[in-house]
Amino acid sequence: MDVPSPMAQADPAFRDDVLAGLAAPIPAIPARWFYDLRGSELFEQITQLPEYYPTRTETALLEAHCRDVAAITGIGDAVIEFGSGSSTKTPILLEAVKPSAYVPIDISGEFLRASAAALQTRFPDLPIHPVEADFMRPIALPEAVRDKSKLGFFPGSTIGNMVPRTAVDLLRAMRDTLGAGAWLLIGMDRIKDPEMLVAAYDDAQGVTAAFNLNLLRRINAELGGDIDLDAWRHMARWNDAKARIEMHLEAARDTSFTVAGHSFSFRAGETIHTENSHKYGERDARLLLLAAGWGVERQWTDTEDCFAILLAKAEAERFAP
Ligand code: AVI
Repeated sequence: MDVPSPMAQADPAFRDDVLAGLAAPIPAIPARWFYDLRGSELFEQITQLPEYYPTRTETALLEAHCRDVAAITGIGDAVIEFGSGSSTKTPILLEAVKPSAYVPIDISGEFLRASAAALQTRFPDLPIHPVEADFMRPIALPEAVRDKSKLGFFPGSTIGNMVPRTAVDLLRAMRDTLGAGAWLLIGMDRIKDPEMLVAAYDDAQGVTAAFNLNLLRRINAELGGDIDLDAWRHMARWNDAKARIEMHLEAARDTSFTVAGHSFSFRAGETIHTENSHKYGERDARLLLLAAGWGVERQWTDTEDCFAILLAKAEAERFAP
């Protein structure tokens, strides 16, 4: 019997993205490939780092303001969570808005079912309808919630990992999924002192560096690569013109390698762009949502204006002058 090689089991989309990305004039690999098992564990560690303020700030904002959210939206909506992952912040919202149903949407079915089961233990009477889907496209919601009023939930500032054009496409797809009159509660990271931003993405313990470099380890393991990990270092920089933190892998010296039989060479100082994390001022956030048909009703921020949660309403399409 043939033993399948690791490459035969590799995700063809990962292979295509890596080969095309390494050969591009500005080499780049989509950030979604960070999240294999090791990458997801490292990301969990990032969220606990002293320099990484977004997770704890957003959690505190949700704890402080979910009751204000409920006062505006009313209770009993169906809560639809996009990219629910491990759903750690969800109970704070569910306690406050007392939903009639909860629909977690995630591309990873295994993760989705495990976290739905955990939530069911905590909220035994809540109807939970997990949907395994790519939330970048409009989704047919389960029959049971179709006629209910809806509150979308998209925490974590994941929207920041998309370039604005893709972010607007996603927000519009969410609007199409939820329908006119629906609410959306979304977390967005603010523009702030670049030193604080860079520290959040280049921590002293080197966890974010390990997270970034894990992508190369994954390429070697899954795509039969022979990349020398010692030839690469983590780099995080603030791109002011685009209001984003960029993560790159930078060649520390001239280096050559192969991936899936294809050869690549990088000169010292050349980089592979691995992630964008866009930050939004108050008006930027409002405009981004408006461009996708969402009118912002309220924004709540912490005292230092580090992070914001925004409550927006899907506006009815209307003629504009
Ligand atoms: C998942 N996402 C919102 C994180 C961020 O802050 O952009 C991913 C991350 N990358 C490095 N640190 C955290």
